[in-house]
Amino acid sequence: MINVATIRADFPILRRLENGKPLVYLDSAATTQKPRQVIEAEARFYEEQNANVRRGLYSLAYEATELYEAARTKVAGFLRASPKEIVFTRGTTEALNLAAWALGETRLSPGDRILVTEMEHHANLLPWQELARRKNAELWAIPITKEGSLDLSIFRKLLTRRTRVVALVHISNVLGTINPVPAIAEEAHKVGAVVVVDAAQSVPHMSVDLRELGADVLAFSGHKMLGPTGIGVLWARSDLLWDWPPFLTGGEMIREVWLDRATWADPPARFEAGTPPIAQAIGLATAVEYLDAVGMTAVQTHGQELTALALEGLLARPYVEVYGPRDPEQRGALVAFNVHGIHPHDVATLLDQEGICIRAGHHCAQPLHRRLGIPASCRASFYVYNTKEEVEFFLFALNRVWEGMR
Ligand SMILES: Cc1ncc(COP(=O)(O)O)c(C=O)c1O
Repeated sequence: MINVATIRADFPILRRLENGKPLVYLDSAATTQKPRQVIEAEARFYEEQNANVRRGLYSLAYEATELYEAARTKVAGFLRASPKEIVFTRGTTEALNLAAWALGETRLSPGDRILVTEMEHHANLLPWQELARRKNAELWAIPITKEGSLDLSIFRKLLTRRTRVVALVHISNVLGTINPVPAIAEEAHKVGAVVVVDAAQSVPHMSVDLRELGADVLAFSGHKMLGPTGIGVLWARSDLLWDWPPFLTGGEMIREVWLDRATWADPPARFEAGTPPIAQAIGLATAVEYLDAVGMTAVQTHGQELTALALEGLLARPYVEVYGPRDPEQRGALVAFNVHGIHPHDVATLLDQEGICIRAGHHCAQPLHRRLGIPASCRASFYVYNTKEEVEFFLFALNRVWEGMR
């Protein structure tokens, strides 16, 4: 059980008034709010420990390097992975671009096949589109069913011996669907494909066991799990990382450089060219500590309880259409919906007048919205600091939106 009142006291922004009303922040799937522990860890670094990492020969630089590497170890512990398999990136988007590029360099020939799904965020679609174009490879999307799950019978038909990569989202940022990654990975591995998982909406909300998941590559963002912006994680099996050439080149990722050539550092440094996001990594490690203290099982249960309440309320309103699975246990902590006859942007703007922040638009998933036959949707998403009362107020305010626009 989560003590939401204690948690809320750690988030200064939640004291803010919006249009004279208490802020009800229901957009954590876009980015979460930050507890003061994370804000203070970043500030402390700049006030007391700031130096560049890996290059200084003085105590301050050693200390900064130690803090940066300790952050890597902390994140690795969260995933029960080795720190050598943790590459810090700017976020999920950069991590997926890196993986797509490197897999293209090492695994893909013309005519090979890449599988994605119809429910991908653009961050896990466009890098594969570009790769397929560059390498003359085939790109296929696993379709979704009416209920918003992946159609596994079609997946099996699309999976051929030429399939080199299966790239899929763990939890959809629109449908909320938790995809059966272990089952998909098992079949993908039988044909020798690499499984790349976009975990931007799962790692923040549930305990992710890499071995159970069967992923070979996994990406997520710090800012969606109480951490700072500008930091994300690429985890990959170490044999893949050792095989991959660098994505970006420059300082700090080399072994030796001549005027006409260079050799590369071992992973993960090979993939961290230039000055890394040092303060952000330290902030992320503090966010991980915070989530560990709450407990990921409790985080997930709380998310499911709020989602169940929201789903029940939305499904009971005849003027609302809900997307994705009906069972809250089969989804992440978010619900996408539309109010009949009212544009999602208007719904969001009217809720804002009540102090409620929701997301409206295509949520960087245009092909999915096209598949659903809608240009846009509203999305409410929840995290550790949200209360049942907030969800109830959101449902009540939605009635006002509907009545006011009729
Ligand atoms: C499922 C999913 N993948 C990828 C991303 C991209 O994350 P970022 O913008 O932090 O790189 C998001 C963010 O909204 C997401 O929800």
